[in-house]
Amino acid sequence: MERFFEKLTAALQQGSFVKLTLSKPVAKSDELRNVYIKPVRIKDRLMYSFTYRYDRRDETLNYDLEQFVSLLESLLNNRFLSASLFTVTEDITLLISRKGKPTLICKPVKEYREVDLEHDHVKNRLIDPRNIWWFRLGLTTREGKVLADMQHKFKQICKYVEIVDSLIRNTSFDDELRIADMGAGKGYLTFALYEYLSKNYNKRFILEGVEVREDIVLKVNEIIRDCQMPDFDFIQSAIEDYKPQRIDVLIALHACNTATDDAIIKGIENNAKLIICAPCCHKQIRAEMEKSGVSDCMTRYGIFMERQAVMITDTIRALIMEYFGYKTQIMEFIEMEHTPKNVLLVGKKTDVVPDKKLIMSQIQDIKKHYGIQYHYLERIFE
Ligand SMILES: C[S@@+](CC[C@H](N)C(=O)[O-])C[C@H]1O[C@@H](n2cnc3c(N)ncnc32)[C@H](O)[C@@H]1O
Repeated sequence: MERFFEKLTAALQQGSFVKLTLSKPVAKSDELRNVYIKPVRIKDRLMYSFTYRYDRRDETLNYDLEQFVSLLESLLNNRFLSASLFTVTEDITLLISRKGKPTLICKPVKEYREVDLEHDHVKNRLIDPRNIWWFRLGLTTREGKVLADMQHKFKQICKYVEIVDSLIRNTSFDDELRIADMGAGKGYLTFALYEYLSKNYNKRFILEGVEVREDIVLKVNEIIRDCQMPDFDFIQSAIEDYKPQRIDVLIALHACNTATDDAIIKGIENNAKLIICAPCCHKQIRAEMEKSGVSDCMTRYGIFMERQAVMITDTIRALIMEYFGYKTQIMEFIEMEHTPKNVLLVGKKTDVVPDKKLIMSQIQDIKKHYGIQYHYLERIFE
């Protein structure tokens, strides 16, 4: 333990201290999971930033050198069994057994590191978590750090923005674009798109989030108003009742079950140039398949029935979009570990005249094979 503090003191004196991480809480029930310590320059003063990572939130506090060392001693005596000290040339790990026996492991680093004194180091991200709306939406701390249990959501949003950005860049639009986000929920994606598009394009974007839940819409519109975001609004409406002025890009991210079909209908009816959906549950077709009692050698297995319902639902959606002149694509948008609902169905309006007869016969073949009477999106033909 003494040797560890000697190493730390030397690194602090030589200005070679990069960072220190405390892990392995003594009490498994401790809400405080880690402490990350790094040097920061604040108003020309060298301070030490402690990021306390709790189960559901992060908290960052800055201390001077004296406070840093005494706090660290106390945390190592009572709360944590492991400390990893990183200097510009060495990795030093202190492990304390449950009986209190310390072990020190020192390894030289392969490549020289630099000391980063930037406060609140901002990664090169598409979305800036320090924007106040992310705190108001419950994604970050007041200081703009993404909450531990929101990291996956944040990653998913960034990936989504990246995809939507590339789709918009590869489609020709006028200088004013109307985007409708159907079943927008708390609006994470809608805010991310607003932030990214208004910062990175020389066009006017008018964004509308459509959400049936009044409480969400009231809250989100309050944030939009407080943050003074022009051309941005949430409408309280069921997707099917939504009457847009125009839609250039239609988005539906995890709109439940047939709400995705309602969204696609709105996109097609309004001649949207892009329709981008990440379908959610696929209950309607699953129920149709179960009702028919038709099962082939694959769908007799429960989980394959589920997967087949997903594939059938989205294939028929893609075919119907093609019937209306869209070129379709189905892709995965984020690694499976972040969400199993990671399929993206994209339709891009083209001038190509579709072979409607062929498409219809393909839809009928699928329906017949699986005993499906009706796909909800077929409402568009009524
Ligand atoms: C799973 S959430 C997804 C929210 C958001 N798009 C996202 O991915 O973070 C689905 C949202 O769609 C809304 N919703 C479901 N059916 C709807 C409908 N028919 N019309 C409007 N909103 C609907 C729900 O209230 C819910 O907020």
